[in-house]
Amino acid sequence: MKRIVVAITGATGAIYGLRILALLRERQVETHAVVSRAGWLTLHDETGNGRAALARAADVLHEHQAIGASIASGSFRHDGMVIAPCSMKTLAAIAHGLDDNLVTRAADVTLKERRRLILLARETPLTLAHLDNMTRVTQMGGVVMPPLPAFYAKPTDIAALVDYTAQRVLDQLGCSDEASYARWRGIGGERG
Ligand SMILES: Cc1cc2nc3c(=O)[nH]c(=O)nc-3n(C[C@H](O)[C@H](O)[C@H](O)COP(=O)(O)O)c2cc1C
Repeated sequence: MKRIVVAITGATGAIYGLRILALLRERQVETHAVVSRAGWLTLHDETGNGRAALARAADVLHEHQAIGASIASGSFRHDGMVIAPCSMKTLAAIAHGLDDNLVTRAADVTLKERRRLILLARETPLTLAHLDNMTRVTQMGGVVMPPLPAFYAKPTDIAALVDYTAQRVLDQLGCSDEASYARWRGIGGERG
């Protein structure tokens, strides 16, 4: 059984984290969730969900201040971590090895253990600090993956937009297969 860490921080787009948790459960992946203090604010404000919903959505819900939790240690094995969405503050902390809460500590551990780390970094426009931090995280092996919609997928509603990005995250985490979602087949479709 695969095991993935899913963090939600205080950038807009908490729905991405929720949807990723739901898709991972459909695929029988064990999930460990952690939500930053600001993440709880945006999660509640944008989706109406709180602690009870997260506790249902994840196999284990960790407290952001629980720096002694399993996911804070490299000896706890998992198959990757995604931060969805990832604020510029959390991005900066990861870029500089500042393990000030369980989200940033777990991300730092994921990088040091050379495991997959995906950041759905969300802000616009971007400052040089944001861009520099994205570069640093990329140089350390992380994957910076802003949640940008793909209109070639012809989304008809917000759920479809969110789903496309969430499915791409599962691709990055090795938790998908060819039939997981409608993939690009070339304009007009290709046979082969
Ligand atoms: C409604 C709302 C939306 C926000 N959206 C963003 C955002 O898209 N990107 C971002 O970097 N920060 C955003 N912020 C600011 C972060 O929440 C703030 O920087 C916070 O300190 C991040 O802490 P965290 O990374 O520990 O969650 C937003 C704040 C609020 C209240």
